[in-house]
Amino acid sequence: MHTPPALKPALDALAQAMDSRFDRLLAVPEDPRRRLYEAMRHATMDGGKRMRPLLTVAACDLFRVEKDRSLRVALAIECVHCYSLVHDDMPCMDDDDVRRGKPTVHKAFDEATAVLAGDALQTLAFEILADEATHDDPNIRIQLIQELAKAAGPAGMVGGQAMDLAAETTTFDLPTTTRLQQLKTGALLAFCIEAGAIMGKATPEQRTRLRGYAHDLGLAFQIADDLLDVEGSSARTGKAVAKDMAAGKATFVSLLGVERARQQADFLIDQAINHLASFGAEADLLRAIARFAIERDH
Ligand code: IPE
Ligand code: IPE
Ligand code: MG
Ligand code: MG
Ligand code: MG
Repeated sequence: MHTPPALKPALDALAQAMDSRFDRLLAVPEDPRRRLYEAMRHATMDGGKRMRPLLTVAACDLFRVEKDRSLRVALAIECVHCYSLVHDDMPCMDDDDVRRGKPTVHKAFDEATAVLAGDALQTLAFEILADEATHDDPNIRIQLIQELAKAAGPAGMVGGQAMDLAAETTTFDLPTTTRLQQLKTGALLAFCIEAGAIMGKATPEQRTRLRGYAHDLGLAFQIADDLLDVEGSSARTGKAVAKDMAAGKATFVSLLGVERARQQADFLIDQAINHLASFGAEADLLRAIARFAIERDH
């Protein structure tokens, strides 16, 4: 299945908004940093589903957050995501040559530049959040910074990546694999939703429901990624497939098999959508994103 019609206009608009913002943010200087900026542009522009920006904007829209502000938060999160992909693809990690249908950053440039481009994208994310233009209330900005730091750091994405490496040499059971996936992918996806709640000053009840949605969506999203590694095509995903098994990665697919992994993803998405029951039509985009997370072919 390709991108569902309901989501296509939203994703296309967001892809454009992200590209034009990255274009402005990463204007190439006429000095020896040129190569660094070019690598950062390569990592961020012209590609990717922009799932995290879409989730962020959809969550902010629930609370009618001003669009320019929600797009700034979306941009910061996409910076962290792109940095994580640049480092994930390096020879010391997954050793991949193709990403988003293009050569990976260390292939198009070199390894040192890939390390630096990732580092720079990460710090840029926090600079964007700390700027007054993101929100005039400094408490809100600090909450965003703190929660993104948690989601991206050792208790979040980086911790998950470390567990992913450990899984190459140890056999993880289902609860440990679930935790790995929650950290590796779930934490940053959950922050997208949390950021909407922070920007929109959601009530505690709304936050609880949104966290339930984000938790189930994050797990299902990574199961879909693992299924695509087994059943997907590199022409559609824009990256190498059939790599996890060879590398001995612990995935839901390796533990449960394709059929049960798919059932689990379906179950999680139904559950994610149930968490939104108290929201009305304003949460329809979040519902559509949840379906797309597991029905996608890329
Ligand atoms: C890939 O993320 C890495 C995971 C965390 C599973 P995406 O599937 O969102 O990659 P892009 O942004 O669309 O390239
Ligand atoms: C990468 O997971 C997750 C992060 C970059 C945090 P994968 O290694 O499964 O992602 P792909 O399959 O290379 O996109
Ligand atoms: Mg990896
Ligand atoms: Mg990888
Ligand atoms: Mg993968």
